[in-house]
Amino acid sequence: MRTTDRNVILGLYRSGHARDVLEAAFDLGITRLDTASNYLSHRSHEVLKRGAGDLLPKFSVSTKVGYFPEGHSLDSDRLRAGAERVAKDLGREPDAVLLHNPEQGCPAAETLAQACTVLAEAARAGLCGGWGVSSWDPRPLVGLGVPRPDILMIRSGLLVSIDVLEATEVLVESWRPSQVWGMSPFGGSVAESVWGRFDPRLFLKPSRSPTKVQAAFRSAYRLPAVDAVAVGTNDVGHLRELIDAMAYDVDDQVIREYRRLLRARRQPV
Ligand SMILES: NC(=O)c1ccc[n+]([C@@H]2O[C@H](COP(=O)([O-])OP(=O)(O)OC[C@H]3O[C@@H](n4cnc5c(N)ncnc54)[C@H](OP(=O)(O)O)[C@@H]3O)[C@@H](O)[C@H]2O)c1
Repeated sequence: MRTTDRNVILGLYRSGHARDVLEAAFDLGITRLDTASNYLSHRSHEVLKRGAGDLLPKFSVSTKVGYFPEGHSLDSDRLRAGAERVAKDLGREPDAVLLHNPEQGCPAAETLAQACTVLAEAARAGLCGGWGVSSWDPRPLVGLGVPRPDILMIRSGLLVSIDVLEATEVLVESWRPSQVWGMSPFGGSVAESVWGRFDPRLFLKPSRSPTKVQAAFRSAYRLPAVDAVAVGTNDVGHLRELIDAMAYDVDDQVIREYRRLLRARRQPV
């Protein structure tokens, strides 16, 4: 039975874009996909269109522009052309286009505002349903003004440093995005040694029998507080495990204590 879960976004950064995974995701109730123009060696959009064009209307699709074959750029003309190309390559208008890692190169306030305005205008012109910013490290963006975005996408979860958490919260306060999305809840891999050194289940309220992966995933909705989390997998069993994790509740008292400890251990700059 499908249980539509709009809080889980299937991220395609590490994905082979296999059709069966997309079909299984939909059957499990996932209705959002997140990609970027540079994923899959800059072929993500066309591969999705070719291999799953008929499935795409069932999903809300977000994508990102900023990384071009020539490199990263916030140049207005390139971003405009990039946003225009998405619908053509994907075969449909995306639901959102996000500015991809604008912190690269620590942009001047004017450069960032101009880049965001290009995407806001693209959304107004109907090239996409909305626009936003996706940032791996939001710290260089603090203090810079942008038009109000629909979406702010940032790293979330137990591996995020206190400085990044706090910078995100300052941006949320000042930019007032309509939605905040987390991403990369496992920092890209559950095989890293850090995951063997502690048990993330202590972040959940007492519950039946969550796995460590489920506890880490669920905690990513509170560090910082986000409306949805983009997670990557090529494995349908793993996807099911993540969906089932939504049944567990995070213990906010433990989250508060964890943040207090992170603050206390903050490295002096
Ligand atoms: N700057 C940006 O804009 C930016 C940067 C990074 C990420 N993102 C977004 O966030 C999405 C997710 O990020 P990510 O892929 O870097 O990191 P992630 O979601 O933290 O980790 C993905 C890895 O976790 C494994 N995994 C997932 N569920 C699992 C489970 N139940 N059990 C065991 N392993 C599991 C996957 O392996 P299996 O395939 O074996 O399941 C995959 O290799 C991206 O696809 C993208 O949409 C955006």
